[in-house]
Order: sequence, then structure tokens, then C-alpha cells
Amino acid sequence: MKIPYFEPTFGGRESEYLAEVLASRQLAGGGRFTRACHERIEQVTGAVRALTTHSGTAALEMIALLLRIEPGDEIIMPTYTFVSTASAFALRGGVPVFIDIRSDTLNIDETLIEQAIGPRTRAICPVHYAGVACEMDTIMDIAGRHGLAVVEDAAQGFGASYKDKPLGTFGGLGALSFHASKNVVAGEGGALLVNDPAHAERAEIVREKGTNRSQFFRGEIDKYTWVDLGSSYLPSEITAALLLAQLEQADAINARRVALWGRYHEALAPLEARGLARRPHVPQHCAHNGHIYYLVFDTAERRARARDILLERDINSSAHYAPLHSSPAGQRLGRTGSAMKVAGPASDCLLRMPLYAHMEENVVERVAEALAAL
Ligand SMILES: Cc1ncc(COP(=O)(O)O)c(C=O)c1O
Repeated sequence: MKIPYFEPTFGGRESEYLAEVLASRQLAGGGRFTRACHERIEQVTGAVRALTTHSGTAALEMIALLLRIEPGDEIIMPTYTFVSTASAFALRGGVPVFIDIRSDTLNIDETLIEQAIGPRTRAICPVHYAGVACEMDTIMDIAGRHGLAVVEDAAQGFGASYKDKPLGTFGGLGALSFHASKNVVAGEGGALLVNDPAHAERAEIVREKGTNRSQFFRGEIDKYTWVDLGSSYLPSEITAALLLAQLEQADAINARRVALWGRYHEALAPLEARGLARRPHVPQHCAHNGHIYYLVFDTAERRARARDILLERDINSSAHYAPLHSSPAGQRLGRTGSAMKVAGPASDCLLRMPLYAHMEENVVERVAEALAAL
């Protein structure tokens, strides 16, 4: 059997909660499971409000609506990210301004942000790649001096922190993903973190098709109506039931992934010593969540060979993002805000190793052994 490079881990009350939600016949969003997820995410992150969504992409789209992004408004972000970081803003007519990344963490290079700020810049959107934090002190300082919003794409960052503060809680708004590939999964799912209370009321409205239905459900008004722009961003109770079971195990899942990440780091040190590949870097002030273990090989050819060697042993590995500044839509809808020296080569040479909480430890040894043949 092939070893996948990601797989969800089910070890808790998933089946029980799913059976319960089906038996209740209350499948639309906003029920007991949804409320329990909100409470739990608020507890873990300390966000003023957590609102579940049907994807991380949906949470990012809500952020663009909440910021009232208008055509021509610019949002600074790393080029090395998932398409949704950019498309969420482009859907409102916003212009993603792509910046190169740091060679150590592969996060946005904070030293390149200031030069990309122009008269139409509205926000900075850091992306915490692999659950390792961006340099948030510097980014918050730049945003403060230029009067810009900070909104975080913390899709990969649930359970990770920067100087002990959870990712997704630095800017006014943050997005989490619970996609099947993440540490904590709902199949498709996500959450909006509202850290600035000024966004709290409108966030509920945007999520409920632009209506004040949430207030109606709480009995605060006697009928609901269309009051603003919005869409249907809430997940069903089926999704929330699965997510609640997963959230209950988040600490155990993340701890196990961090432990496996550590084993990879040790086992692959000789490869780095031989100059064939670079291992991930986690700055001392960042606590990561073991979301991804990757290697950046010295050449694209060696990356291809590494992938083949692993595949011969039935081990799947994977490349990751192609930089958005060179994608067809990125070129049409965005602009490039810095020289691009790191993202292209890193993307060409990066390989993600298998990593999931129930992975057997001998996979790490098998990977290290296989790659020793390089
Ligand atoms: C950095 C980043 N942003 C956004 C997303 C989108 O999340 P989702 O797949 O839940 O829509 C993902 C994950 O797929 C991601 O890795």
C-alpha cells in the first residue's frame, strides 16, 4: 500500500457526532455543533469571535468583504501561497501585490513590504507557511506606520503561535482552514477569526447572505432582512459535527505531528550536511504545529530524483505552490511588488514528505534511508 503524504486522523467522537447530527435531522448551519465549534475555537485562539465557514477560502472572501475592498485597492501578500489568498481579494476587484519570500521560512520577506506600499495599498496579508509564523512584530509595525489593515491567512496555522500568541489573532481578521489536508479537518471547512470587535456584527451578516438572521435566531429582532453585501459562507451541521470531534483532539494531533516533524528533522540532517537539501527553519520565537515537513533540494533535478526514489518504495511526496506572480491569473489580476529571487527556485526544489498524526514512525526512517541514496 502506498504511503500518502497527508491523511486525516480520526481517533475521537467523529462517528458518534455524525450519527447524532443525522438523528437530530437538523442539518442546516448554526445549530449546537456549530456553536460548540465557535466556543472551542474562541477558547483556543482567544479571538473575539470565531465563525465557522465552509472553507478557508470562504473565510478569506469574507475578509475581503469586511475590509470593503474596492476595485484597484491593493493587498500585499507573498507570491508563494495558495491561490485563494489572492483570488479572495481579486473577486472584489482588489489587486494582489506579490512579494518574494524569505529563504529560511518561505514566509513573506518582511523587509520587502515597505517598498511595495503605494497610494492604493489597503492591507497586508501574511501567510504562515507550514504553520510557522511570519515576522509579525515587524509586519504589525509597518502596517501601523502606514495605516494599513493586517489580515492573516492562517489556513495552515491552527495551534501554532508567534511569541506565544496564536496565529490568526494579530490582525483585525484571520482565516483558518479545516480542509482535509490540514491538521484538524472537516473535509471542507474553515473559520474566520474576528480580533477587532468593530468587525464582529458585520461578520455575522456577511456570513448569512448579507442578512441579520443571526440576530433573529438569538431572538434579538422579530424578523430578519437583507442589510448588507454577503453570501452563504456557513457550513452545515454535518461539517460542524465532524469538526467538533476533530477540535477536541487538536492538541493531541498537533503534538504527534510535531514529534514526527522532529524525527524527520533529525533523520534528514545528514542530507543537509552533504549540501543536497535544506531542512525547514523554525525561528526560536515561533511554536509550529507540525503541519508540513519539507526539504528544499539544491536542484530541481535532485528533487525529481528524490520523488522517484520515494515512489519506488511506495512513498508519496509532493511539490507545493507555484508562485502566483508567474501564474496566468496572477499576471492578469495582480502585480509584482518586489524582485523575485527566492520563490521560484524554492518552489522548483521543494518536496513535502508524508506527515499525518497516525503515521507510523518507521516511515521517517524509510524516507531517510531512501534519500540517503541520493
Ligand atoms: C495558505 C492557504 N490559504 C488558503 C487555503 C484555502 O483553504 P481551503 O482549502 O479550506 O479553502 C489553503 C488551503 O488549502 C492554504 O494552504
